[in-house]
Amino acid sequence: MRLLVTGGAGYVGSHIVWALSDRGDEVVVYDNLRQGHREALPPTVRLVEAELADEAALDAVLGDGHWDGVLHFAALSLVGESMQRPFHYMTENAGLGIRLIDACVRHGVGRFILSSTAALFGNPETMPITETTRIDPGSPYGESKLMIERALYWADRIHGLRYACLRYFNAAGADPAGRSGEDHRPETHLIPLIIEAALGLRPEILVFGDDYPTPDGTCVRDYVHVSDLAQAHLAALARIETGSATYNLGSGTGHSVLDVIRSVERVSGRPVPFRMMPRRPGDPAVLVAGSDLIRSETGWTPQYTVLDDIVATALAWRQAHPNGYGNAA
Ligand code: UFG
Repeated sequence: MRLLVTGGAGYVGSHIVWALSDRGDEVVVYDNLRQGHREALPPTVRLVEAELADEAALDAVLGDGHWDGVLHFAALSLVGESMQRPFHYMTENAGLGIRLIDACVRHGVGRFILSSTAALFGNPETMPITETTRIDPGSPYGESKLMIERALYWADRIHGLRYACLRYFNAAGADPAGRSGEDHRPETHLIPLIIEAALGLRPEILVFGDDYPTPDGTCVRDYVHVSDLAQAHLAALARIETGSATYNLGSGTGHSVLDVIRSVERVSGRPVPFRMMPRRPGDPAVLVAGSDLIRSETGWTPQYTVLDDIVATALAWRQAHPNGYGNAA
């Protein structure tokens, strides 16, 4: 297949790019490199360094030969930041995402995969969260992804664009072969921050809230390995040959913030100092995926079901790249 991957130099995107390249697809990455890294990509992959908002650049790429599909990862993705800058998230994520869909329709692209999110379920009362759970975004970030999902629904109905919306829970870990890993600037995600604390790169980890209605009072999340997410994208590309689909993607197991701290301590063999803080606005108490639909419709199944194994891949990548990309040890 010949595929365009927006945001392909980012954390999740780059793992999918490696998986597509591994199976022999021709991949072009479209990324502004504000969060992405050239070093995260296979050396043979062509990178178009441009903004999604640059309509001329996007038209030039989409008009350059036949595309079998577009995978869309380029987005702002921080729940907390979206609570501070709601309209920025809506214009950047929803606005540009919908314009990308429009461009795909104009250029005759037949397949579209959206990197969507568990954040569009808000704070559900029953777990696990399935595709029939009521949608009620708890943040402008979740809302912005929902708007793109709805645009895709109409793109299919009116123009026949086949799509898959993949709603990730908490993407975690790194390529087991060490070719790509997690390096956000600034880093706000739990696992890389805890690893930094374990390695002595930061003094402590701040735990956002210990008064949630969970077993230990800290938030519970479903950490799903990025390589499992990558395989889910391959499965979704095959599945949409027979029609559009929307899937929740998680490992199906919830872990609290304190569970993750203990896991990093076990895997690294080092203590992690932490301090309790107030809740972070926009954080739901519990998010655990019910992923039976993608399992039954595509045969996908996560290979990483043990948190320590996920953490081990993240730790190995960070130990090989103590300063992130561009600074391998
Ligand atoms: N947390 C802390 N301290 C930190 C950082 C995080 O206690 O320093 C807690 C958060 O409060 C949350 C959990 O750790 O309970 C996970 O937080 P992350 O920031 O790692 O991830 P989020 O759950 O906020 O969001 C992630 C992605 C979103 C996606 C969501 C889906 O960043 O894009 O998972 O579940 F929508």
